[in-house]
Amino acid sequence: MSLKQYIASNSERFLEELVDLLKIPSVSADPAYKSEVFKAADFVKNSLEAAGVDQAEICPTAGYPIVYGEKIIDPDAPTVLVYGHYDVQPADPLELWDSPPFEPVIKKTSLHPNGAIFARGSADDKGQFFMHVKAFEAMLASGELSCNVKFMIEGEEEVGSENLDIYVQANRKKLEADVVLISDTSMISLEHPSVTVGLRGLAYMQVEVTGPDKDLHSGTFGGAVANPINVLCKMIASLHDENNHITIPGFYDQVQEYGKEYRDQLNKAPFDEGEFKKKLDIKETYGEKGYTTIERVGIRPTLDVNGIWGGYIGEGAKTVLPSKASAKISMRLVPDQEHKSIARLFENHFKSIAPPAVKVKVTPHHGGQAAVVPTDSPGYRAAEAAIQEAFGKKAIPTREGGSIPITALFQKVLGLDPILLGFGLDTDAIHSPNEHYGLDNYFKGIETIALFFKHFHLQGKKK
Ligand code: BES
Ligand code: MN
Ligand code: MN
Repeated sequence: MSLKQYIASNSERFLEELVDLLKIPSVSADPAYKSEVFKAADFVKNSLEAAGVDQAEICPTAGYPIVYGEKIIDPDAPTVLVYGHYDVQPADPLELWDSPPFEPVIKKTSLHPNGAIFARGSADDKGQFFMHVKAFEAMLASGELSCNVKFMIEGEEEVGSENLDIYVQANRKKLEADVVLISDTSMISLEHPSVTVGLRGLAYMQVEVTGPDKDLHSGTFGGAVANPINVLCKMIASLHDENNHITIPGFYDQVQEYGKEYRDQLNKAPFDEGEFKKKLDIKETYGEKGYTTIERVGIRPTLDVNGIWGGYIGEGAKTVLPSKASAKISMRLVPDQEHKSIARLFENHFKSIAPPAVKVKVTPHHGGQAAVVPTDSPGYRAAEAAIQEAFGKKAIPTREGGSIPITALFQKVLGLDPILLGFGLDTDAIHSPNEHYGLDNYFKGIETIALFFKHFHLQGKKK
């Protein structure tokens, strides 16, 4: 049976198996789901075995395990290392879901006339890494597997991949490969297939501003004592100037500036600003002066408050001058900003702008480097050829705003070109209520991944 026939005649089962995986609430951020995260790891191991790997193992770490499996068909054939993550983001706010996040349902939408599967993790990243398991099964069963394959599927991507970092450093030999293939990003659309050639880095901070040592009556004390919420808001507001540049001294020192040619190329990607605004129900886009929306997301760094709290937020009114105010602030980074240096710059600056009337505490959370994918490698050419064959179109290279911190580590420690061959859409609502993944995306992804293997093998022969 040909590969195409195999996929077609097993498509129902390919979907049912994904549904079963999506039923496991493997939320890595919340310890209440600990046993479920382990259960998801077992599920992944079992599916790799069922698909036909020589051996699969659960590799314990200080946190959640890494599932590893490999199939070596020929020591001289090229080797593809597949990376993905089986953990998912928390599902809340639950009340905003149209159906429960861990009870997958398939529904048709205007964008997905053939149906999309609604569940937490459907697009990020269970539905995407599972395409690789199924593509592998189909290639093996139809006798068309031409490359060795190593799977490394982790359970801590959504919480910073700290233990994967350690695992990769310690297992260089085992992970030796010719390319690393990742499906954990999006494409422009099925009509405009794209390959991600850049991801932003991340530095995530938490700040706490303390005024008086206890909450005070805002009449008795208000006006005479610093209100930490007022102060925090002022400090945060000062982090951008009137052009929406970030004001932290040294913040832009390592930022790679791009020439006109590169920027023109980026801006050629099909993007409808009107449609973008309409989908988000905004009147205007907003961002750093002098850059287009594509550039603001793809090649420029940002600073965003992710959460802010303090004082009274219950029913009715309470006149209080709070003792503390806090915020979570993340910065998206671009090459060559080093995330630890940026965290330090932030901390020093934030402390320096605090008035003497308050105390400031700054705590860094996780971070990671930005990544850029070269477009002249055998892996990239294989991805282009696979897309050409599957979609009949030339792949558009895009720079995405999200982060997969481990990508840069694969480049640095394993010396591998990462190929970011993702099939999600920006409208999939990842990390958000009603996350979904198009069935066409899923099956087209399986087909394209199999073609990637074919073309990567051919690229190897050309060497
Ligand atoms: N798959 C995403 C990253 C992503 C999303 C890349 C969309 C490109 C397009 C990944 O699971 C993720 O959510 N990463 C986090 C960072 C991580 C350290 C928590 C992010 O980007 O916020
Ligand atoms: Mn992901
Ligand atoms: Mn994610």
